[in-house]
Amino acid sequence: MGEHAKLTLEGKDYEFPVFIGSEGEKAIDISSLRAKTGYVTLDPAYVNTGATTSAITYLDGEQGILRYRGIPIEQLAEHSTFVETSYLLIHGHLPNKEELQQFSGLLTRHSMIHEDMKHFFDGYPQSAHPMAILSSMVCSLSAYYPESLNVYENMDIQSTRLLSKLRTIAAFSFKKSIGQPIMYPQDRLSYCENFLQMMFAVPSRDFEFDPDIVRALNILLILHADHEQNCSTSTVRLVGSSQTNLYAAMSSGILALWGPLHGGANQAVIEMLEEIQRSGMKCSEFVEKVKDKDSKIKLMGFGHRVYKTYDPRAKILKEMTDLILSKKGKSDPLLDLAKELEEAALTDPYFIERNLYPNVDFYSGILYKEMGIPINMFTVMFAIGRLPGWIAQWKEMMDDPNSKIGRPRQIYTGATEREYVAMDKR
Ligand code: CMC
Repeated sequence: MGEHAKLTLEGKDYEFPVFIGSEGEKAIDISSLRAKTGYVTLDPAYVNTGATTSAITYLDGEQGILRYRGIPIEQLAEHSTFVETSYLLIHGHLPNKEELQQFSGLLTRHSMIHEDMKHFFDGYPQSAHPMAILSSMVCSLSAYYPESLNVYENMDIQSTRLLSKLRTIAAFSFKKSIGQPIMYPQDRLSYCENFLQMMFAVPSRDFEFDPDIVRALNILLILHADHEQNCSTSTVRLVGSSQTNLYAAMSSGILALWGPLHGGANQAVIEMLEEIQRSGMKCSEFVEKVKDKDSKIKLMGFGHRVYKTYDPRAKILKEMTDLILSKKGKSDPLLDLAKELEEAALTDPYFIERNLYPNVDFYSGILYKEMGIPINMFTVMFAIGRLPGWIAQWKEMMDDPNSKIGRPRQIYTGATEREYVAMDKR
């Protein structure tokens, strides 16, 4: 018999099995708690709750370890492409040559969006945030692929279709926002080249790729590709658990990602840095402001629910940003400011005591900026990167014969029963 946890409640002893993951992570399986005791657990924001077992991503926040399907993120960033990493996440193993060719072929085949959908872009005001457009367009895909309403039909085709179309939708929304003609995807180009071409090429001019930028984009997307049960992924799982279609579930993930505490932080970091620059404030002064809880200001791009050390993704991105800038023989005052701010925070007792370090969003925006991606598209870039992770997590849940609809409990703290009193009698 395996290890058990003992719980004493109202003088009675109960036992619950202990579950140990493949990396030694320990959990108490309380799935029978309510049936046995009448109690539920109370864990706001799920700080201590494992909502699922998963074989996709391993994250050790104390040691700064992140692995997809067992492979360290550093190795994937150095050797893999976003397409290969997407296959790894979704299918559980690195593809062989034929598998990769077939997967890439599907991505190429499904890269267009229905011509009628192009009219949707005209309905948005120019000021529309691209995340609003992206989430609506993704959900609208379910109208064009009604077979997706049967969630178990052609899951692989549905998800590969979305993986390919997301970057097309993202690039089209950018072109629309700047009033330029839409550029269609080209079959001869790789996933990342195609995205850059659709974003930055114009019909009348030749478009040349900077191989360093193509590589940087691959790395950025790989680093964002999955992060186990974060806010948007948990949203995808919860929404998907009702067996709604893939596009609806992914659209909900995009919306959860939008917030500044999650994927929206990359945009917020650049806005924060530009504000510091504009105001002429010293980094130490800004750090003091952040420490004052009444100011309601946070050091964006710092802190993480799980990482209590330097986010390994931030480390790679910081080096990557330095490399890209030095290759171009350029400097970026915003990068210098970010480094100064990091130094000021990391030596301050407030940040040391709370284990607050730079997260993935602290340096990613500077790199996106260097690629010419506008600030309001940063979170869209995060969504393109995160999509294979959402798909892998959704598929893992859908393939699990024991998965159930997600439905947390609550502890009610409102009024106890009282009589309805009509308006004129009050
Ligand atoms: N600036 C100032 N103080 C902070 C920050 C920050 N960025 N992050 C956490 N703290 C403080 C927080 O006020 C609290 O202090 P106290 O113990 O005195 O009340 C303590 O550190 C613990 O923080 P918490 O808010 O309880 O931590 P959490 O796990 O609930 O929140 C977080 C995690 C990422 C939402 C938070 O650190 C934050 O708001 N960071 C800024 C936004 C950001 O960069 N988000 C991107 C996260 S990484 C990308 C992704 O995966 O989404």
